[in-house]
Amino acid sequence: MAKLLIRGGTPLKGMVNISGAKNSALPIIVAACLADGESILENIPQDIDVYTISLILRELGAEIWFDEKKRLHVIPDGLERYQASYDLVRKMRASFYVTGLLLARLGKAEVPLPGGCALGSRPVDYHLKGFQSLGAKINIEHGFVKAEADELMGSKIYINRSSVGTTINLMLAASRAKGTTILENAAKEPEVVDLAIYLNSMGARIRGAGTDVIRIDGVDTLKGTEYGIIADRIEAGTFIVACGITNGELVLGNVVPEHLRSTILKCEEAGLEIEEGTNTLRVRSTGRPLSVDLETAPYPGFPTDLQQPFAAMMSIADGTSIIRETIFDRFRYVDELRRMGADIRVDRDTAIIRGVSELTGAQVEATDLRAGAALVLAALAAKGETEISGVELVDRGYEHLDVKLRQLGADIERIPDGEEDTFEEYLEGPLLESLSKMGR
Ligand code: EPU
Repeated sequence: MAKLLIRGGTPLKGMVNISGAKNSALPIIVAACLADGESILENIPQDIDVYTISLILRELGAEIWFDEKKRLHVIPDGLERYQASYDLVRKMRASFYVTGLLLARLGKAEVPLPGGCALGSRPVDYHLKGFQSLGAKINIEHGFVKAEADELMGSKIYINRSSVGTTINLMLAASRAKGTTILENAAKEPEVVDLAIYLNSMGARIRGAGTDVIRIDGVDTLKGTEYGIIADRIEAGTFIVACGITNGELVLGNVVPEHLRSTILKCEEAGLEIEEGTNTLRVRSTGRPLSVDLETAPYPGFPTDLQQPFAAMMSIADGTSIIRETIFDRFRYVDELRRMGADIRVDRDTAIIRGVSELTGAQVEATDLRAGAALVLAALAAKGETEISGVELVDRGYEHLDVKLRQLGADIERIPDGEEDTFEEYLEGPLLESLSKMGR
């Protein structure tokens, strides 16, 4: 696997444009396959997860490719296969969204159970219960979810716990079901709202996205359309924290400040100065961060996806921070941060972080996407050199993170694993090439 070599200590300075949201792009690319005709999607990040979902949909029969303006074209008219391949689905939990798609489009789906991952067991029981409420018959055989429905019927579904994935999968399935579906205790994340706006622009009738009750009046057909997805609030939050941890001064472009409210408040509590424009944020940090206590929560609470990057900043804060993780089992990065000199104790779902005055470079390993981002940030602040392995996990959800950081002054270098020369070449080469040619 590729590595990142980072020599810490340089304050980040300059302007960075935030990419489109990975967690919007994934369901929206799947939703494009519910329609007749072509969708053209703008602001889609070129990260590994976007490629993975595109490859899965392509295997099912859709045509998908990036044009020279980096717009993603999706033509789903040839999507006729209902069996998703194990090798691709196991790479990414969000690929389970194809179950909602296939049920709605073909009345039949065979999709591997996504299984556990580095964030704990992560079941899909709420998704399956929801599909059953819509009238699907579900069997689990040989590790595959086999779902079938002659016709999906609208229903009233209470989702046990606010779940982004369940809300999205059920919106996909219900948008073409017969009759009305009401999702109660639905997730309120901006990515759910983005999907609803896109589906409505294709002819769906979805109301209430962004609240905890979503009403979906099923329609017979949807028409492909052009759509630009929202900015990635997690990438934006990562750059805000990168600014804080390096005592930098950054302007973030292409952001939606409203989506970052809890992150901005917690970073201000840590001493960062943040000025909001219409779609920009000016961030400045002038000293050692202050310690902050927080608890992760569904939107609009503090996002679990920024827990690890924020903890990296707290590891050099003045004082002790208490961070409680309520969504996933997400503390595996702590051992790696300790290798860099952090003083962190984990007691079940809570990390107690005593800020140290300095981190030191070490060899560490990214255990998942956001853990990898946390290590990158810690390395930017650390004294000396840090070597981070497992960088492909970071590439899953950040578009050119190392390139963007380098442009802001970071001393960061990618050491390829030998199979491809650089990540840029990998993206521009085999992956982009295969996507450019998809179905053409
Ligand atoms: N849950 C169940 N059963 C289910 C579904 C969820 O018990 O059937 C539990 C989960 O185990 C978790 C909680 O419900 O404890 C909430 O999980 P949710 O379904 O909201 O998470 P997700 O849809 O699997 C998405 C993001 C994650 C993000 C979470 C929480 C995508 C592709 N993934 O996951 O993003 O952390 O919501 O906001 O949108 C990431 O980008 O690094 C990432 C992991």
